[in-house]
Amino acid sequence: MEVSIDAIGNVVGLWCGGKTDRSLPPVMTGSHIDTVKSGGRFDGNLGVLAGLEVIKVIKEQNISTKHPIAVSFFTGEEGSRFAPDMLGSLVYVGGLDLETALSTISVDGKRLGSELEAIGYNGTAPCPGTTPKIFLELHIEQGPILESEGIDIGAVENVQGISWTELTIKGQSNHAGTTPMRMRRDAGYVAAKISTFVRDLSNEMGGTQAGTVGKIDLVPNLVNVVSSKATMTVDLRNTSELMLQEAENRLAIFCEGIASQEDVEITRKSLARFEPVEFNHQLVDQVFVTAQNLGYSTKRMTSGAGHDAQMLSRVCPAAMIFVPSKDGLSHNPAEFTSIEEVAAGANVLLHLIVDAAEEYR
Ligand code: GLV
Ligand code: MN
Ligand code: MN
Repeated sequence: MEVSIDAIGNVVGLWCGGKTDRSLPPVMTGSHIDTVKSGGRFDGNLGVLAGLEVIKVIKEQNISTKHPIAVSFFTGEEGSRFAPDMLGSLVYVGGLDLETALSTISVDGKRLGSELEAIGYNGTAPCPGTTPKIFLELHIEQGPILESEGIDIGAVENVQGISWTELTIKGQSNHAGTTPMRMRRDAGYVAAKISTFVRDLSNEMGGTQAGTVGKIDLVPNLVNVVSSKATMTVDLRNTSELMLQEAENRLAIFCEGIASQEDVEITRKSLARFEPVEFNHQLVDQVFVTAQNLGYSTKRMTSGAGHDAQMLSRVCPAAMIFVPSKDGLSHNPAEFTSIEEVAAGANVLLHLIVDAAEEYR
């Protein structure tokens, strides 16, 4: 394959057979190869390796296509080190300018541009990148639905909206033994209250509303000191933009109330905000029908996780193929999908790619 690296470190491998028309837009597949710090082996990597396997089969079988075929992996899909998530694919489609992206500072205080230079992945291919004919992404479900219903393939119709906020709570450190309870300005206590509020709010709203506090850092973080500062993240998700806005508003109102009640200062910073996304209906139907024709059980479903395909859907028809996750586990080293399940997903991907790339018969 002809491999190029762009200025934000996205990597695209292009396959052109003998009769391929290079002037046509490529049919693209791919995903990401970064993981969360506590991640497994399948999230992202599956979609990239399956794309390479598709190319291998096309070569072995001497399949010749009119359109080029591209396999890509995008920088920083997870966003837990450099926010927002799906940063590389967002830059690829022109949704975030390169300089802003390169200036992103990580949770460990590093600049993305410098980190890319350090690993030699500050490439020269232009951003935004070539607009594909279509984009298809194979991914593990990362949830329990396919496994519990005994279904082989998910045809992903839509992706939840995502709202990430970092809250910084400033109180006052003081002695844990001598400071009367009524005189405390305890940032740690407020962080705990916000945490339980996020859970209660999500339960109360019901539907697809999800709320997570995944990170809390306390200062000075000592057994006998009232916390002077807490920095925490809130991840809110919903398939409905209106409901997501409602959750954000209710969180903001709660923070105002508790700040005045506990005499602390709360400041907020948005880390990521993406509206819910609907994939291309025709392509979703094709995923469904292709899976059925290959003899796999299939269902249309929603993605609870964010994916690069949702960014690509801004510029071209996009859709996703899901395969089951054992015990619904993901963002966990125990993440697992069997070789048979992986092969089913890769087969569906192969057929869709060859069709879209217009095989010469
Ligand atoms: C990306 O993995 C996400 O948080 O959805
Ligand atoms: Mn992923
Ligand atoms: Mn992930």
